[in-house]
Amino acid sequence: MENLLLIEDDVGLQKQLRWQLDKFPLQIAGNRVDALALVRRLEPEVVLLDLGLPPDPDGVTEGLRTLEEIKVVSPLTKVIVLTGNTEREISVRAVGLGAYDFCQKPFDPQEMSLILERAFALYHLEVENIRLKNRHQPNPLQGILTNDPQMQQVCRTVERVATSDVTVTVLGESGTGKELFARALHHLSPRSENRMVAINCAAIPENLLESELFGYEKGAFTGAVKQTPGRVELAHQGTLFLDEIGDLPLSLQAKLLRFLQERVIERIGGRTEIPVDVRVICATHCNLGDLIRQGLFREDLYYRLTEITLKVPPLRDRIGDAVLLAYAMLKRFGEQHNRHFKGFKSDALAIIEQYSWPGNVRELENVIKRASIMSEGPLVGGEDLGLEVGQAEPASVSLRQVREEAEREAILKSLARTNGNVAQAAQLLGVTRPTLYSLMEQYHLR
Ligand SMILES: Nc1ncnc2c1ncn2[C@@H]1O[C@H](COP(=O)(O)OP(=O)(O)OP(=O)(O)O)[C@@H](O)[C@H]1O
Ligand SMILES: [Mg+2]
Repeated sequence: MENLLLIEDDVGLQKQLRWQLDKFPLQIAGNRVDALALVRRLEPEVVLLDLGLPPDPDGVTEGLRTLEEIKVVSPLTKVIVLTGNTEREISVRAVGLGAYDFCQKPFDPQEMSLILERAFALYHLEVENIRLKNRHQPNPLQGILTNDPQMQQVCRTVERVATSDVTVTVLGESGTGKELFARALHHLSPRSENRMVAINCAAIPENLLESELFGYEKGAFTGAVKQTPGRVELAHQGTLFLDEIGDLPLSLQAKLLRFLQERVIERIGGRTEIPVDVRVICATHCNLGDLIRQGLFREDLYYRLTEITLKVPPLRDRIGDAVLLAYAMLKRFGEQHNRHFKGFKSDALAIIEQYSWPGNVRELENVIKRASIMSEGPLVGGEDLGLEVGQAEPASVSLRQVREEAEREAILKSLARTNGNVAQAAQLLGVTRPTLYSLMEQYHLR
């Protein structure tokens, strides 16, 4: 299905372009709101956008705003900006905002056709590229790599709860992949066609947070020059991701609670209640129980938010995952920098396994990125990682427990090292393949 959307308020130009571009399946909108509705519905491959739209037909503010909103709703759509002949600077600005190209009035029909054909071709190439990339992603959970049983449990919970509208709170240390899980929940949900709108409660100053969340009416306070919807409203029919929910100030906790109970919002300075349909996902690295005891977090809000909680384990508790992730990251960074890495030397693998990764997957990512730059040969060595590793022995329990734990760990590690190849892992462990299979059975390792 191909669609070309023309956003132009001048009826004369609409007619002219309809006639000149008769070989393209043309749809027309005369203002930003109609245009956005069409973009949502059709996800057009290409948009021709006149920057002078009402209510600012002689300026470019409405046009540029339309451009930005199109790029949010349909990021792959190629937007070609139509400008008068004196506005080169503005055209360049539009390209900076994500426009694909610009075309100056008056148009040469042949030139315009060429630009359009190239834009359609590029769009289809990009879609094909994404399709191919996704095909090589074995995990349905949007790039969450893991072999760890605890993590796999979390993944299964995600798959199970994604399709419902329950409120989910993702807990875990910083860098463990909380946002990744939140995005996976959205992508696997029936709302995935619509937006996931994120807001980081820790990153926005307290006095701005309310208007960010709930929006405001024109004139609600000094500086409120136009009516502005908040993030909650923007997430309508999609997912609202409240990141670092533990940092939400108490005054706003009350407002959020009211929203969760009544599912309507009131913009600041507004008098009407606006119903909003969103699925809420939160994340935090804080211990919410502690915050409740300190009087910093409302208990009633806590119960609303934690209909389901996902506890993402820290990387040091995931058996074999650090090495598994390190290999995947090395491959990715190698591809990005046109270098072919064979893997890690054994001293590097030992460090990756032993290090405690206080910054979790994010820290691992940084370390591997650095190593991929520092390493001279195709094998990354321990010194390339730039980490200090102390000797830390786990506290022992019963001998049998220790033995079983060690056995299980050794199996997971060798499977990670051999990328899941059972024959090679058996060789590494010095057992036969059938023995390894039965051990995997015994320890419930897939
Ligand atoms: N299991 C995983 N597989 C692949 N990549 C991962 C995995 N977990 C995390 N990552 C990557 O690690 C980085 C950190 O993840 P993310 O931002 O989701 O963590 P976070 O818990 O939200 O961190 P913070 O608390 O710092 O906000 C991201 O680049 C993410 O893509
Ligand atoms: Mg995060």
